[in-house]
Amino acid sequence: MTEKDEIDLVEKGVLRLEWAREHMPVLARVREELKSSGVLKGVKISMALHTEAKTGILALTLKEAGARVRLASCNPLSTDDSVAAALREHYGLETYARKGETREEYYEHLNRVLDLGPEVIIDDGTDLISLVHTTRKELLDNIVGGNEETTTGIVRLRAMASEGVLRFPVMDVNDADMKHLFDNRYGTGQSTLDGIMTATNLQLSGKRFVVAGYGWCGRGIAMRARGMGARVAVCEVDPVKAVEARMDGFDVLPMAEAVEDADFLVTATGCAGVVSSEHFKRIKDGCVLANAGHFDNEVDKEALSSLARERRRVREFVDRYVLGDGRRIDLLAEGRLVNLAVGQGHPVEIMDMSFAIQALCAAHVVSHAGELEPGVHPVPREIDERVARLELDAMGVSIDTLTEEQRRYLSSWREGT
Ligand code: ADE
Repeated sequence: MTEKDEIDLVEKGVLRLEWAREHMPVLARVREELKSSGVLKGVKISMALHTEAKTGILALTLKEAGARVRLASCNPLSTDDSVAAALREHYGLETYARKGETREEYYEHLNRVLDLGPEVIIDDGTDLISLVHTTRKELLDNIVGGNEETTTGIVRLRAMASEGVLRFPVMDVNDADMKHLFDNRYGTGQSTLDGIMTATNLQLSGKRFVVAGYGWCGRGIAMRARGMGARVAVCEVDPVKAVEARMDGFDVLPMAEAVEDADFLVTATGCAGVVSSEHFKRIKDGCVLANAGHFDNEVDKEALSSLARERRRVREFVDRYVLGDGRRIDLLAEGRLVNLAVGQGHPVEIMDMSFAIQALCAAHVVSHAGELEPGVHPVPREIDERVARLELDAMGVSIDTLTEEQRRYLSSWREGT
């Protein structure tokens, strides 16, 4: 890259960051609070989050509140290089991330971030926390707590806690209402379709669109795909969620049947091997296959490669696998999360709420250092309500308040029919 290219990249990144900042009023209010309380002053924070513009504003918020911050990406394909360059060169934030990292580089970057000797860890997917508990155990004594952003990370942390190996408290940011109700549902809904449409430039209307998983992310994707006019079907393993999908008006059927008619197939389960060789044997010719889950193991790429007689890149982010009988499968973003690998991640206003929760939880673990047991902790209701009120304020929406009489009524049992 020439010096001019580097300057252009930094400029582009600064513009993207400032655009995001402009549309993150909730985090701005939290930033002012944290600056004046001084709670994060001098605190060392190691972060592994998707390194794109909104994440940059969270990292800068923590820095502006007095913390020492290092940032790496939590996925080898999700970095916006312009943002990483701007964070490093323009804002002086120690950033270790590059789009298209090899596995070695990815772990090298996580380790550089940990070399800070953090007191707080902010993670998305729990690779950073897992590293601290395996090869970087010398760091454990200094860590007062952490935050986890996503469902997959929470599943891993709960497994660590139930094995008794998790050594510090971690705030379950993912399950805060002001996070998953909006980020997982509307955020993933919009950004996944954005990624698919950007990668393919294909029409959704009238097409069969199959969603694997009907958690908050799957619900969002199914809802938005229907909004685009697709004929949406859902595959589930949880009977309750399957009933919900059906009652929401979607077709529900097993994957082995769904693939036969799928024009688009998107995984959002958090589980491995969701689309596997038995499905490739029956999948419709030309199916566009994408993943919106955290890890790239929902589509069994090894099975796909071994069944394919040919693989070639037919567009940026689209790999075409041709099966023995000539059927084509177009896999997006190598099976990595399509909304960040191709798209730019969730909408800014959504991440404004999620990252306000992150910032407040970082302050929470610091101000409760030594008080919280090792384990996974729910986000306190006050933080959820605080962020909700700030969001209402930002949207210019007012709501009602209970009268004293109503409060009394709601806490009594004597009044009935
Ligand atoms: N941008 C930053 N972090 C993100 C996440 N976890 N999901 C989607 N977009 C993001």
